[in-house]
Amino acid sequence: VYKEIYARPLPIPPDKVPKHTWTNSTTGQIINYYEVDIKPFQQQVYSNLGKANLVGYDGISPGPTFRMERGQEAVVRFINHGTLNSSVHLHGSYSRAPFDGWAEDTTAPGQYKDYYYPNNQRGRTLWYHDHAVHHTAENAYFGQAGFYILHDPAEDRFGLPAGKYDVPLTISSKQYKSNGDLFSPASELTSLWGDVIHMNGQPWPYFKVEPRKYRFRLLDSAISRSFQLYFEKDTKTGTKLPFKVIASDAGLLSGPVTATLLEISMAERYEIIFDFSAYANTNVTMRNNRDVQADEDYNSTDKVMKFIVGGTITDTTNNGEVPAVFDPLVLPPPKTNVDRTFKFGRNNGEWRVNGVSFSDVNNRILAKPKRGSVELWELQNDSGGWSHPVHIHLVDFQVVSRKDGKRPVLPYEAAGLKDVVLLGTNEKVRVLARYAPWDGVYMFHCHNLIHEDHDMMAAFNVSVLPD
Ligand code: C2O
Ligand code: CU
Repeated sequence: VYKEIYARPLPIPPDKVPKHTWTNSTTGQIINYYEVDIKPFQQQVYSNLGKANLVGYDGISPGPTFRMERGQEAVVRFINHGTLNSSVHLHGSYSRAPFDGWAEDTTAPGQYKDYYYPNNQRGRTLWYHDHAVHHTAENAYFGQAGFYILHDPAEDRFGLPAGKYDVPLTISSKQYKSNGDLFSPASELTSLWGDVIHMNGQPWPYFKVEPRKYRFRLLDSAISRSFQLYFEKDTKTGTKLPFKVIASDAGLLSGPVTATLLEISMAERYEIIFDFSAYANTNVTMRNNRDVQADEDYNSTDKVMKFIVGGTITDTTNNGEVPAVFDPLVLPPPKTNVDRTFKFGRNNGEWRVNGVSFSDVNNRILAKPKRGSVELWELQNDSGGWSHPVHIHLVDFQVVSRKDGKRPVLPYEAAGLKDVVLLGTNEKVRVLARYAPWDGVYMFHCHNLIHEDHDMMAAFNVSVLPD
C-alpha cells in the first residue's frame, strides 16, 4: 500500500531546448531542430521498495515539454536507446503521413528517425507518445509520453494565466509489483486500470499555489482509465468547487464553460482556469469520482492531488476576469446524412473496428475520404460494458451527437473541436470533420492502448480520387 499520499511535490517537466535554429534568409521562416534520446531510467516510487524501471524521452517521464510558436516549423530527431521498437506520434498535429507515427513505421533500438512538424494550427495542447505496433501500451505506460504546447500569439489578447501560472498536468494510473517495479501491461488483453494515480509521473503529489488564477492543461495519459475530476476544500464540505473549462483537444473553446466536474478520457485534453483566490492559506484537493465507466476502483483511486494555497501573490499579471467569449469556432458545414459507420466491437476476445483488425493488412483501410471533403461518421460502441475513447488522426472534429447511452454531448465537448471522443457503454457518437489538408493513410483507433494493441485500430486513406 502506498503510504505517502500528498507527500511529494508535483514535478514540472523541463522545457525542451532546440539544438539549432535556422532562419530562411529569403522567407524569414524559422525551423527549430531538436534531439530527444529515448532511454531507460529508474524512479523510486515506493520508498520502502526497489526502484521502478522506466524508459522515457530524454530519460524522464513525462518527457520534456515542447513549447512551439505557431508558424515556426520543427524537426525532432528521436533516437531510440531503449530495448523495444519505437514510433512517435504527435497527437493533435496534422502531420504529413510519413511523420505521423504510423504504427508499423518503427525505429529499432540503436536507430533514429527525424520527424517534421508544421506547427501551423490554432494554439492547442498536444502530446507526443509512442505508437509502435503491438507495443504502444507498454511504451507509453513505461514512460514514453510528453507535452507539446503550440502557442498562438493571437490568443495573448485574452490575458489568460501564463508562465508559472500555466501548468501542464498529465494524469495516469499504474500498478506496481511487490519489488517496486512496474507491473507490465504487455500480456493484458482488456485493460490495466492501475491502483496508483500519478500526476506528472508522481503518485498523488501536492502543489504549492498562490491565491490567484491558474491555467491547468489536463491530459489523461493513462492507458486504460477515464476520470471524472472535481475540486473540493480540504475541510470536505462535500461541495464541488467551480472552475472554467477554456479549451479542449483542438484549442480554445468558443467561450469558457463553467463546470464542477470534468470528464476526461484517455488522450483527451481539457484546459481549465481554477481561481484559488477564495482559498488563501487553506488546501484544495483534486478528486476523482468512483465508478467512472466500467473502470475498476481501488483504495485511493478517488484521490488525485492536493493544492496547498499560500497567502501571497507574487505576480498579478493575467489574473483578471476570464473573457466571456473567445474566437468563434470554425465548424465544418453541417450534414445530416451519415457517410460512414464504424462499430467498435469484440470478436473472439479480440478488439475490432467493423470486424477488422489492424493486423489484417489487406482489409484495414476502411475509408477513402476525398481530400477536402466533409464527412459525418457515426462511431458505435458495439462491445457491451466496455468504453472506448476513439481517436481519429489528422483531423479536428465536431462532436455532433451522442445517443443510446446515458450521457449527452457534454457542454465542454460541444463548445470546441476534438480529436478524441469517448464512446461510453452502448453509445453512438457522430463526428463531423473535413478530411484535409494532406493525402495519405492515417490511423483511427481506440485510445485504451491495450485495445489499440489488440487490435482495435484501422486506417483511412485521404485521396484526391473518389471512394
Ligand atoms: Cu494518441 Cu493514434 O494516438
Ligand atoms: Cu477500447
